[in-house]
Parts: sequence; structure tokens; C-alpha cells
Amino acid sequence: MSVTEKNLHAAFDLTATVYDRARRQLVPCFDGFYRAAVEALDFPAAAPLAVLDLGAGTGLLAGFVAAAFPAARITLIDLAPGMLARARERLAPIIDRMSFVTADYAAAPFGEACDAIVSALSIHHLEDDAKRRLFHRIHAALKPGGVFVNADQVAGATPLLERRNKTQWIARARELGVAEDDLAGAIDRMKFDRPATVAAQLRWLGEAGFESVDCAFKDGMFAVFGGRRGA
Ligand SMILES: C[S@@+](CC[C@H](N)C(=O)[O-])C[C@H]1O[C@@H](n2cnc3c(N)ncnc32)[C@H](O)[C@@H]1O
Repeated sequence: MSVTEKNLHAAFDLTATVYDRARRQLVPCFDGFYRAAVEALDFPAAAPLAVLDLGAGTGLLAGFVAAAFPAARITLIDLAPGMLARARERLAPIIDRMSFVTADYAAAPFGEACDAIVSALSIHHLEDDAKRRLFHRIHAALKPGGVFVNADQVAGATPLLERRNKTQWIARARELGVAEDDLAGAIDRMKFDRPATVAAQLRWLGEAGFESVDCAFKDGMFAVFGGRRGA
């Protein structure tokens, strides 16, 4: 584990108990963002999907996916054991469908082939080369016809747009009543961020072999994008 990974893991572990309380303020487009991620999984609702959630944290996205697909089995991977402990609490009523793995998904093997690989607000912590390698590994880990969805923080297409996105994000979080220490904590954790533009990531997905590559949702610095492995 690199020094940055250790620090990232520690940063999320320290905030695990308070992580959820400010989610709706810190992700001002929360409902549309997570909804677009779930809607991108265009499988029948009763499908017995094998799903992997990369950087699952406290299990927010896994919970939404589990609700939309009641027969899905979901493996949650995260570096931070404190975050996964909160996920176990959140998902307690459906724990028999969940598996938990404390690991670095950039290095750990993914195990059995998946119908869907999902991720929210996590992959932007990787350097760009590591994102590209991860996209190749995700493609290889999907079954034919499998879907990858990444709901993530992205870089503005230009420095001007990057500044505007960040200014608007802070203003909207305050309009929604975020506590100043929660906002300060989120801004502090941004030192671990390595966001890339949507355009670059769509290109890298195509290079990794994905088909039907698209951005389904974008609101400032939040975007939902992904692709499908060919049948
Ligand atoms: C901002 S949280 C997002 C959690 C959750 N997906 C959500 O939508 O609320 C990012 C999570 O990614 C995890 N993470 C970041 N890089 C990781 C890596 N390389 N391997 C495993 N987990 C990672 C962090 O520990 C943290 O729990």
C-alpha cells in the first residue's frame, strides 16, 4: 500500500461515523446522480446479478443497487475498514446478499466474473494511468454484455470550468445548509483527488474495449458514465 493510499484510507476511516450525515449537501445533485447510476444498469429488475462495488464506502450506492435489483448479490470493496463497518450496519437487513472485502481495488483480484461493476465517488482518487489500467481490468472482469457504471467527481474541461464548478459546488452545499466543518473536511479530503475530464475517461473506456460508452448524467463536477462489454 503506498503512502497516499494509507493516508486516503486513514482520511476516510476518521470520517466514517460522520460521512453519511452531509452527503446530500456535499453532493447537491445527490438524487439525480445516484439515480442515473442505478438506471444505467439496464437489466431486468429480477435478474440475479453479480455486482462489484469499487470504493463502496458506507454502502450508499450498493444500497440503491440492492433495492433496484432484489436478487442481486453485491461485493463491496474498500480500503477503509471503518467505512465498510458502516456499510454492514446500513445493509444489515439484506446482509445475506452482501460480501465485504477490505482491499485496494487497484491491486486486488476481482474474483468471479460480474454482470455489473459500479463505483461512486472513488476512482477519481487514482492517478490517470491507474484509472486507465483499472478500466482494462474492469472490462476483463465483466461477463459478455456486462455493464460498468462510474458515478464520480470529474475535472472541468478547462481551468475556467474547473474553477466555476468548484465555486458553484461550495455555494450549493452552503445553500443546502452544510455545516462548515463538514464542508472544510470535504475540501481537506480533496487533496487526495485526481479527477480527470469526462471526455478523457470516455476515450479511455473505449480504449479498454468498452462499447456503448456514454455519459448519462453531468452536473458540475459530478458525472455518471460507463460502458458495456460486448456480447
Ligand atoms: C467518497 S467515498 C464514496 C463511498 C461510496 N461509494 C459513496 O458513494 O458514498 C470514497 C471511498 O473510496 C474508497 N477508496 C478510494 N480509493 C480506493 C482504492 N484504491 N481501493 C479501495 N477503496 C478505495 C475510500 O476508502 C472511500 O471509502
